[in-house]
Amino acid sequence: MTTLGASIRYIRGICTSSVLGREVPTNLKGRKTSSQLWLHRQLSDPYVEKAKMENYRCRSAFKLLELNQKHLILSPGMTVVDCGAAPGSWSQVAVHLTNANGMKAESPKGKVFAIDRSQIYPIDGAIVLGNSDFTTKETQDKLRERLAGELVDVVLSDMAPNATGVRNMDHDNIVALAYAALQFALEVSKLDASFVAKIWDGRESKEIENDLKRFYKNVKISRPAATRTESSEKFLVAKGFKGLKY
Ligand SMILES: C[S@@+](CC[C@H](N)C(=O)[O-])C[C@H]1O[C@@H](n2cnc3c(N)ncnc32)[C@H](O)[C@@H]1O
Repeated sequence: MTTLGASIRYIRGICTSSVLGREVPTNLKGRKTSSQLWLHRQLSDPYVEKAKMENYRCRSAFKLLELNQKHLILSPGMTVVDCGAAPGSWSQVAVHLTNANGMKAESPKGKVFAIDRSQIYPIDGAIVLGNSDFTTKETQDKLRERLAGELVDVVLSDMAPNATGVRNMDHDNIVALAYAALQFALEVSKLDASFVAKIWDGRESKEIENDLKRFYKNVKISRPAATRTESSEKFLVAKGFKGLKY
């Protein structure tokens, strides 16, 4: 049944009503409150719809696109390590911007390594290491082996632990992941390379920012528009790796 400006359809078994372009769930009785809230948020989120339309695996793609637009991080020919890559939208963006799939014949071809502790479905143009916990020596050795001595232009970390809801604990856990990515970046980066890591804001934010300043010429904090209002996430964007001798 349709009324003016509204239509009803089914998305994954949920009856939704599209009112002036926005999907609103209508048959949520019997579902848990948390699942109702999640569905509401997903269905009314313009970035979720945009990601579907532009063939990105998730809405996070728009965060990296905006960070790149602001800070000019990725360009054709670069070698990129994407930590915490699943489901794969950052790697999709990185493949496109570095030309890792060789789509632009006139531009240099980059390389994108996508790593996650979860499974990653193949990403066109990326070298995928799924089921690989980045904090382990085994994963980092595997990655070094794939790099075969090649130095890296950009290390990205969108890694996030399973949130417990205990703010300080979640903050400490995500900062530990960012430090794991940073430590690896310091070992494998070219001079002038970039580093981007997500953290949830908290007591160690300033410390990691200061640590980054020891190794990178330029460190900025960014909160892209696609970050949800209620989230404490922010991205540390460090550019101009000084090299370890400094
Ligand atoms: C927000 S998601 C990343 C989304 C991704 N950037 C994208 O655009 O598709 C966070 C990811 O971090 C991964 N992760 C968390 N801890 C990790 C670890 N120790 N090693 C590797 N990946 C990890 C999770 O499995 C999850 O897939």
